[in-house]
Amino acid sequence: KTIHLADYQPFTHLVERVELTFRLAPGATRVLAQLHLAPNPARPGRHPLRLDGEGLRLVACAVAGQAVAPALDDSGLTIAPEDLPEGPFLLETEVEIAPEANTALEGLYMSKGMYCTQCEAEGFRKITYYLDRPDVMSRFRVRIESDLPVLLSNGNPTANGQGWAEWDDPWPKPAYLFALVAGDLRAHSADFTTASGRKVALNIWVRPGDEDRCAYAMDSLIRSMRWDEEVYGREYDLDVFNIVAVDDFNMGAMENKGLNIFNSRYVLASPETATDDDYARIEAIIAHEYFHNWTGNRITCRDWFQLCLKEGLTVFRDHQFSGDMRSAAVRRIEEVVALRARQFREDAGPLAHPVRPESFVEINNFYTATVYEKGSEVIAMLKTLVGDQGYKRALDLYFDRHDGDAATIEDWLNVFEDATGRDLSQFKLWYSQAGTPRLQVAEDWQDGVYTLTFTQSTPPTPGQPEKAPRVIPINVGLLNPNGDEVVPTIMLEMTQERQSFRFQGLAARPVPSILRGFSAPVVLEREAPPEERAFLLAHDTDPFNKWEAGRALAKDVMAAMVLQDAPPSPAWLDAVAAVAFDGGLDPAFRALCLRLPAEDDMAQTIHAMGRIPDPARIHSARRAMAGALAIRLGEGLVQLCRDLDDGAEFSPSAEQAGRRALRLAALALLARRDGGKLAAEAFAGARSMTEEIGALAALLDVGQGAAELQVFADRWGGDANVMDKWFALQLALAEPGEAAELTERLTARADFDWKNPNRFRSVVGALAANHAGFHHLSGRGYRVVADWLLKLDPLNPQTAARVSTAFETWPRYDAARRKLAQAELERILAAPDLSGDLREMAGRMLAAG
Ligand code: ARG
Ligand code: ZN
Repeated sequence: KTIHLADYQPFTHLVERVELTFRLAPGATRVLAQLHLAPNPARPGRHPLRLDGEGLRLVACAVAGQAVAPALDDSGLTIAPEDLPEGPFLLETEVEIAPEANTALEGLYMSKGMYCTQCEAEGFRKITYYLDRPDVMSRFRVRIESDLPVLLSNGNPTANGQGWAEWDDPWPKPAYLFALVAGDLRAHSADFTTASGRKVALNIWVRPGDEDRCAYAMDSLIRSMRWDEEVYGREYDLDVFNIVAVDDFNMGAMENKGLNIFNSRYVLASPETATDDDYARIEAIIAHEYFHNWTGNRITCRDWFQLCLKEGLTVFRDHQFSGDMRSAAVRRIEEVVALRARQFREDAGPLAHPVRPESFVEINNFYTATVYEKGSEVIAMLKTLVGDQGYKRALDLYFDRHDGDAATIEDWLNVFEDATGRDLSQFKLWYSQAGTPRLQVAEDWQDGVYTLTFTQSTPPTPGQPEKAPRVIPINVGLLNPNGDEVVPTIMLEMTQERQSFRFQGLAARPVPSILRGFSAPVVLEREAPPEERAFLLAHDTDPFNKWEAGRALAKDVMAAMVLQDAPPSPAWLDAVAAVAFDGGLDPAFRALCLRLPAEDDMAQTIHAMGRIPDPARIHSARRAMAGALAIRLGEGLVQLCRDLDDGAEFSPSAEQAGRRALRLAALALLARRDGGKLAAEAFAGARSMTEEIGALAALLDVGQGAAELQVFADRWGGDANVMDKWFALQLALAEPGEAAELTERLTARADFDWKNPNRFRSVVGALAANHAGFHHLSGRGYRVVADWLLKLDPLNPQTAARVSTAFETWPRYDAARRKLAQAELERILAAPDLSGDLREMAGRMLAAG
């Protein structure tokens, strides 16, 4: 059943208060609910009461103390208006559920002996009958009865005794923010005093033995709390803030009020078990969930179409935070790499949808890169357009005006209009039009006047053949041919389909640096000779565009290798060498410049050029580029490795991480020259997981490392989060013709616990991410992934549907591959009892044929 944004109506009833009692038992948990209801004045007249509920066994139901027999169906219950008093009334229900049988990991479920919940978006209806929609907000009181030692819910603890605990959340919230945890857990604790003097107890709850891996997450939490006070003026609003780490979790983490629940891989870290990337992700996700307390919880969404209201804004805030904590330039480059890899890919295929979708079947399928990442970029553009001061005024007004509301994108934009006086009606197209705009540039130089003429267009996307021109902030700087900057960054505000901007008073024709900082999520289609790209890589003062010039050069080279059999160009090799050995540049930045474009990214680019990408050729070209670079950089790499290995005591700081990244990049290139000799030494002497996994990757990439793989498995066999890396790495680096077979070998292992989403993703998801392996002409990559999706779907539809996006790029390939992929999608769609989640995804992907 399709739900439409246009059909929104307020609910018939309001919930003033909720009291819940949980009698926990793995096979038969009882949930007693008391809902204090009242007719909603916004919906005059008498209405039946419709409550959502799925997979519940109703034991008792009473209205105002009188037993009633509601009409039950698959998705809820209905009480006729005749059975309801005219004014406010109490509804009491008792239901039975079986958390241990809940493999979908949505609602109340069990993970390694502990109870936990995941309610966003529509999981609460699997716990009890309720008005499970975000615009119904209520105050919750919770009593938990269980013999387990730690019993947690939202809000503040009010009382507890032997076998029970009570919690009270003073802040009205929608049901998707409800959470409950019960288990044998240990806390890593700290405290925090807010700017206005509230003392907050902070706890990170983990399984016994993991307490010593929480320090970094706690430090990140404290820095997040301080940052939100300093930058946004937002304080925490309860006496406790709890975080729980869970091993079985469908996504990254969840911002339940006062009780964030995390995938354990985004909490637990020690130098021996976590890579530098893990540390950076933990910092970002801890911040993200904490920031939701204001952008998501205090101000929530009216309906799920407004998801980007909280997610786009919260991603934007976590990006700002990470940029403040680390090198902002390096973070920005990494954000854009991820945006192109995930969101541009989505926007160019059959799953493209607007940042605010207008219809959906299964909302879980819309927690996408478009809603999150593009949603964040749209806010970044808004900030560029109105300026830092305008942004600050608008956000202050947003918190002031909408605290306690379930708000909409219209509310959000109105706040900007009111605070800055700007008309945002055209800007709003960013929320309703799908697809990535292409931006073309023409240059003109005459009589000392330099003119840039931009043309924008957006390709058709499903359901949207025509697009109107959008507002695009284009940050531009101009350089002199000698490398000096003659025009520092200015913002050109493009509003038309075609628009020119003039620069006067220049002594010589400048070299333009366009779209600095990636000021808009668009594809800049501008051909430039290699000399110009190399010039910008050497001289641009904008660090993003400096990197981007090198990236564009590398892509030009790879495209020429794939499409014209050209050799790797010397201009590119020289330009990269200059950066790699420039000790004046940040090592993290140099490491990024040594990273070659990903194969899937290259396929996307070649497709956008109107050609059909050949995964096998892209794979060989990328290999050949790495080989040529290894030769060009030569012995200097050995020296680089030595200089960067300073023997300092481990710190997860961005500064040290950058040095490690550059050293490992050099080591990987060296492995192409020495057959992995130095990498094997580095593996043996590794003092951190970053080095251990980095050295192992360098070995596997040159066909070595069998012995080291075994050493790794023997050492880490007992640690699921570390072993996930072991599985994923092998598949990432498997030869294209061997990836599917390797998957079959790995999935036959006893420790391939396919019901655990992390393990499933690190094997099946990793095969799907091995571009040349997944798209291998044998069709085995497609088949193995489809087999596993069909196996997982009946147990965990949400994760199956998520991993199925592996197929979203199928329309870009040749007829033979299209036929193979299409056949697998059809096979999925024809499966009996397919979940609604996977059905929607497979259907949308097939519609592109
Ligand atoms: N709100 C959570 C976050 O972004 C993610 C929830 C994902 N839910 C889902 N059904 N996919 O922090
Ligand atoms: Zn979020």
